[in-house]
Amino acid sequence: MKKINVQTLLKKKSERQKITMLTAYDYPFARMVDEAGIDIVLVGDSLAMVVQGHENTLPVTMDEMVYHTKMAKRGVTDALLVGDMPFMSYQAGLSDALKNAGRFLKEGGAEAVKIEGGLEVLPVVQALSSAEIPVMSHIGLTPQAIHRMGGFKVQGRTEETANRLIEEAKGLEDAGAFAIVLEAVPVDLAKRITESVSVPTLGIGAGPYVDGQVLVLYDLLGIFERFLPKFAKRYAHMKEDGIQAIRQFRDEVEKGIFPGADQSFK
Ligand code: KIV
Repeated sequence: MKKINVQTLLKKKSERQKITMLTAYDYPFARMVDEAGIDIVLVGDSLAMVVQGHENTLPVTMDEMVYHTKMAKRGVTDALLVGDMPFMSYQAGLSDALKNAGRFLKEGGAEAVKIEGGLEVLPVVQALSSAEIPVMSHIGLTPQAIHRMGGFKVQGRTEETANRLIEEAKGLEDAGAFAIVLEAVPVDLAKRITESVSVPTLGIGAGPYVDGQVLVLYDLLGIFERFLPKFAKRYAHMKEDGIQAIRQFRDEVEKGIFPGADQSFK
């Protein structure tokens, strides 16, 4: 596969080729995603939940995000690597936003950052884009706003909120965003947004009429089992398989089967 960059993604949209994005938070999983030919590796702040075990994404820090981005970077050769700006890394002002986004590129080796939010973050998207930091936007259900939204809920169900999301997508494109994640929005609205902008839309819980799809890798692989969002699909059962392998190891040790001759030195 050829190295993916921001221009490749724009070309894919214009040629109506679907784009794929998955999260990865360290070297081995980033390697798997990259080898499988996925276009974008996102070091998502979802790691707060699926790696760190928190209830939501708010606790993960900038230092932790940079640490995970560095690990993922070593596993990526072809995919575009995107670092997810964590809660309070850009909300307090443009200077913070520039410094923190810069860390993803300078220290983490990312090639772009992702930022949650619509009209309220337009100045941030503009400032980062002007500083040559490519920005992926994220609207609809934005998990960093969980306390305002009152939970992980579908967004844009009324005419007013749907129109606002369309306005936000257009504004983000004008501000310089090179792609827009649409999370948990009705299928028809996702289609309208996708047709309203010339940058690619990447859906998670946004139906099929978007330019690409994104999932949290641990949902897809069946590693994170605390809950499975309605929009996610499990393609493997790695947690169950892992427990089975670990049980077998325990059994073999207890029965004196492991280590055998093959695992022993003469
Ligand atoms: O943090 C994350 O993994 C994300 C994706 C779900 C888009 O933001």
